[in-house]
Amino acid sequence: MHFLLILFIVLFNTTIPFNHANAAEKNSCIECHKNLPPGSYTGHKYSDYTGSVHERAGVRCEACHGGDPVRSDKASAHTGVYHSSDSNSPIYFKNVPQTCGKCHGEELVNFSRSKHYAELKMSGRGPSCVTCHGSMGTFILTSNQIKEFCTICHNPQKGILPDTPRQVQSVLSLMEMTQTLINWSGEFISDAKKAKKDTTEPERSLSNARREMKQAKIAWHTFRMDDVIIRIKNAYNSAKQSKEGIR
Ligand code: HEC
Ligand code: HEC
Ligand code: HEC
Ligand code: HEC
Ligand code: HEC
Repeated sequence: MHFLLILFIVLFNTTIPFNHANAAEKNSCIECHKNLPPGSYTGHKYSDYTGSVHERAGVRCEACHGGDPVRSDKASAHTGVYHSSDSNSPIYFKNVPQTCGKCHGEELVNFSRSKHYAELKMSGRGPSCVTCHGSMGTFILTSNQIKEFCTICHNPQKGILPDTPRQVQSVLSLMEMTQTLINWSGEFISDAKKAKKDTTEPERSLSNARREMKQAKIAWHTFRMDDVIIRIKNAYNSAKQSKEGIR
């Protein structure tokens, strides 16, 4: 196998893209599952996978489910594949953070410092990565959705920090607004560049804004909103500076 790979590289004087995005690569999970009737899925549809950020990034079924994508018969391909309700499964609710965290380490580190993580490990209740991102990581709860969802536990009846959903909603909409401002600044800069203006300073501010925003999104996973707000404010100010720096 390795010998053939080397031979291939030598013969064609090319480098193999070592992410899994190689379209020609055979993957038995995909080959077989794409022909299954859609009703055979419960967690997510095959169509949720196709077109998802993970598919585009070359993340294949086995990265989340285990199994052997080289074997083409169902039984051997499924070795190590369990239903998500089985505690051996990498996508068993409690195991999800570790599975996603193989690739999203910083989010996992922060999430594992949160009370939610403690609750998840202890009682199996409490939000996990898929709660907020879907099983495909395809969506991110919006500020409106998040309020509704978090109210399941954070409400006056249960008495667990009932103000939280409202607070979190406003933090998230601040984040959304700031992201929009960052996107605008990016557009302003590319217009200014086309007009041959000097954009050195605005670009520097914009990259600060992007960096702070990235940190805000990672810090979010601790659920300590004070940290998040500081990052968002920094990002906002840098983005504003960037936009105003263009004359
Ligand atoms: C030859 C066809 C075939 C191949 C190859 C195959 N699967 Fe499946 N898979 C199925 C069918 C059919 C089902 C529906 C349930 C059943 O019959 O076992 C299924 C069910 C599943 C389930 C649900 C398990 C459950 O207990 O409900 C998962 C998860 C899964 N496959 C993942 C994979 C992964 C990951 C791979 C590759 C490593 C893979 N499959 C390869 C045909 C296949
Ligand atoms: C980014 C991770 C990820 C990838 C990639 C992924 N899945 Fe899943 N899948 C999940 C999660 C998580 C669940 C459990 C449902 C939930 O919690 O939302 C699930 C559920 C399923 C189920 C329902 C059975 C069950 O165990 O709940 C099937 C069948 C399935 N996936 C097949 C596939 C196939 C086939 C592929 C590749 C085409 C694939 N998945 C790619 C994360 C993933
Ligand atoms: C094998 C590695 C791998 C695994 C496992 C994995 N991801 Fe990802 N994920 C990626 C890559 C690569 C991207 C593309 C963007 C990037 O480079 O961050 C991505 C992107 C994302 C995004 C960003 C979406 C966006 O619009 O920017 C989210 C959210 C996400 N993943 C959630 C999850 C969740 C939830 C799980 C577990 C169910 C998971 N990931 C499992 C590699 C992985
Ligand atoms: C299944 C129940 C459950 C759900 C759903 C839930 N939480 Fe929590 N949350 C808890 C528990 C339990 C605590 C710990 C409360 C305590 O320390 O008294 C907590 C604590 C928090 C805290 C305080 C964190 C800290 O470290 O002080 C924040 C912020 C929070 N949740 C935000 C959210 C958000 C945002 C959502 C929605 C995406 C959400 N929660 C959904 C159960 C839940
Ligand atoms: C309570 C909801 C919630 C939970 C639980 C959660 N996230 Fe997130 N996640 C968010 C929000 C909100 C954002 C930022 C919003 C945005 O990107 O627009 C985000 C952003 C992300 C991003 C994208 C960061 C970027 O740079 O764009 C990744 C990747 C991610 N989360 C992975 C994970 C992983 C892995 C877990 C589990 C260990 C997890 N998330 C748990 C809500 C959540």
